[in-house]
Amino acid sequence: MTNALTTEPENAVAVVQQVESFLDVRLKRAELPANLVEAIRYAVLGGGKMLRPQLAIRSCEAAGGDAGDVIGPAAALELIHAFSLVHDDLPAMDDDDLRRGRPTLHIHAGEAMAILAGDTMMSLAFQIILEEAADADRGRRLCSELATGTTAMIGGQVYDTLGGFPDGLSEIEQLKLIHRNKTGALIRAACRMGGICAGANDEVMGALTQYGEASGLMFQVVDDLLDVTQSAEHIGKATGKDAEAGKLTFPGLLGIDGSREEVERCQKRAIDALRPLGPAADPLRELCRYMARRTK
Ligand code: IPE
Ligand code: IPE
Ligand code: MG
Ligand code: MG
Ligand code: MG
Repeated sequence: MTNALTTEPENAVAVVQQVESFLDVRLKRAELPANLVEAIRYAVLGGGKMLRPQLAIRSCEAAGGDAGDVIGPAAALELIHAFSLVHDDLPAMDDDDLRRGRPTLHIHAGEAMAILAGDTMMSLAFQIILEEAADADRGRRLCSELATGTTAMIGGQVYDTLGGFPDGLSEIEQLKLIHRNKTGALIRAACRMGGICAGANDEVMGALTQYGEASGLMFQVVDDLLDVTQSAEHIGKATGKDAEAGKLTFPGLLGIDGSREEVERCQKRAIDALRPLGPAADPLRELCRYMARRTK
């Protein structure tokens, strides 16, 4: 019997298909070199879990909005996420050859193409939001939110890879700063973008923000745990790399049990934050439980 908590929520497949077909159509009509389009397709339509689109769509619905209004922003989030992975895998960064069970983009298409495809995914994300937005104000707010998340993500990658921390932080404070930025910020943005598409009021935006922050930190704690507890065959990317590269990680600082306790604390914070939203937020609660217990 499968464990319901480690499998994706039932409606995940439909969300993935909607976002994939949006991106498919959008890339078919992009006036770009064919090899660049092929590289982008490889990176963004390559079997990712599409959790950020799912978070945006479920946040929009939890706030009383229509999922159809958030497909463009959801696709933009996935483009930014895929760009971050393509650059994260480059030899100058984590130097990884395997992603989602197949060669990373720089192995498949070369380093120059991986850098340029990543650059294009970033600009295309903002172009899509502006072209799809219902009105100028919504487009501006969504772009601002996505830009905030993307800039923080890049800052987090710098802390992770090159350091540059503010003075006086303990190791655990440095670690949380890395994780909140490199991973949490885009997850936070996904939830808030869902709220923006629903026209959410301040109270609802506040709840979605707290949920996004707690589940965003939790997401990276789980990623660190998978690096030390799973096989490369199962998760489709190299494992054991964080310790080898001397990265600051949760299992490295708190151990496996301590990291699992941190996951539980984050999960509780995330789910508690949704209280004002009532049953409309049940799919978000379910997504959070899945993100806490996923094995890949
Ligand atoms: C992996 O993210 C990188 C992190 C930010 C931890 P995901 O686990 O969401 O990757 P895919 O998109 O499903 O492959
Ligand atoms: C990556 O963190 C976070 C990004 C912004 C891409 P990791 O380096 O731990 O992600 P994986 O383990 O390679 O997917
Ligand atoms: Mg990395
Ligand atoms: Mg990496
Ligand atoms: Mg990792």
